[in-house]
Amino acid sequence: MAARGGFSNKLGFIAAAAGSAVGLGNIWQFPYVTGQNGGAAFLLVYIGWIFLIGLPIMVGEIAVGRKAQSNPYGAYKKLGGKSWAYVGLFGIICGVMILSFYNVVAGWAFGYFLELSFGNLLNEQDYSGFFSAYVADFRDNLFFSIAFMVITAYIVYRGVQKGIEGTSKVLMPTLFLILIFIIIYGLTLPNAMDGVSFYLLPDFSLINGRTIYTALGQAFFSLSLGMGALITYGSYISRNDNIVNSAILVTIADTAVAFLAGLMIFPLVFSQGQSPAEGPGLVFVALLGVFQTMGPLIGKIVGGGFFLLLCFAALTSTISLLEVPVAFLVDEKKWSRKKAVSVMALLIFLIGLPSMLGFGAVGAFTEFVSYEGGVKSFMDVVQDLFFVISLPLGGFLLSVFISSKWKTAGLSEEISHGNPSYGGSFIEKFFNLMIVYVCPVVLGAMFLLTVLQKFFGVELI
Ligand code: PHE
Repeated sequence: MAARGGFSNKLGFIAAAAGSAVGLGNIWQFPYVTGQNGGAAFLLVYIGWIFLIGLPIMVGEIAVGRKAQSNPYGAYKKLGGKSWAYVGLFGIICGVMILSFYNVVAGWAFGYFLELSFGNLLNEQDYSGFFSAYVADFRDNLFFSIAFMVITAYIVYRGVQKGIEGTSKVLMPTLFLILIFIIIYGLTLPNAMDGVSFYLLPDFSLINGRTIYTALGQAFFSLSLGMGALITYGSYISRNDNIVNSAILVTIADTAVAFLAGLMIFPLVFSQGQSPAEGPGLVFVALLGVFQTMGPLIGKIVGGGFFLLLCFAALTSTISLLEVPVAFLVDEKKWSRKKAVSVMALLIFLIGLPSMLGFGAVGAFTEFVSYEGGVKSFMDVVQDLFFVISLPLGGFLLSVFISSKWKTAGLSEEISHGNPSYGGSFIEKFFNLMIVYVCPVVLGAMFLLTVLQKFFGVELI
């Protein structure tokens, strides 16, 4: 244990795991996906998936990690043998690929933070044009994504306790404060309540098959599930910690931040008469007009604060994404942390280049392939393959692994450490039911439906 490092206590783990979960997925993606999928109705479906499927899978991942005291590859190998180890390896590869594009978006947030706080961005006339030109600009993006990766690498290099836990403990509360501040400000604006109604009064006619599985994919991404990030973090906690309590707190923190991000953004968007269904540009385009109307000083403070928030949220997630392959190289290949971090950060940055260049800088990456009735950029393809399809698949495999190989008795035994009243409890029955029956069926179906719909044009629901 000592050689691998570990969190100092339960709070350290919760801060780090919540830091991993809370990220661009909550503040950038959740509001625009909710905006595109009907608002309140989507929110309800999302919250249902979080607690029914997300929480049991999270508990399962943490338990696997703590039992095996190893990275996802090593953990599956220890508990399940050689062929299961490939499931762990696949998760690690997904993490690498997710970080490759995540870091690019984090770079945009970083650039916007500087442009807003110290530049003339607030004088811009056409934010949509500015955003398109910004993401197509090779030099800025290169600079900011390198900067983001270097900061991430430095924190991971400092280790689990000093780097990951220390950073998360400071950034997570700060993030919360900035969020609350902007929400209060936004709610005082004219027409803010229209945004609140869109977000909180459900129109159930908007729920369809696509809403249901989009919400499930979003829940997986947001909770950092399906690729072993929480197996890795789980391997750094003590056997005296109560896994169920920790997982519940992490889930609540993640859901609260996604919920609050919507409560921050929709009133701002509606107060400007903007469309909530803007898509990925929502926070980079629609919000800018909002910051502009606040006047030069307040606009800089609130706007700069917002993008700083986005950077903090992204950073605690990028460190968890980088830690996964680093833990693999340190555990399995016996590399030093320094070597593992440097090689991986460089490699992932290089893999991310085509994603970065696929917003207009290089035509071949911008219009990379077409499927699902449209042209897809390189980043779209990486997202579809390694996140939309693979995370629920990873969750499916984890639940099959627990029910058929490790067995629920093994799971219960591990969870009971630090939680002596777990055996026989209602929550034990609930988790077992979910992991053995509900998760494999729902996640397996979800995987098949998404593949059919995306790549074969077959829409079954
Ligand atoms: N949960 C992070 C977010 O919401 C993304 C992430 C996914 C991080 C998978 C780690 C692993 O932004």
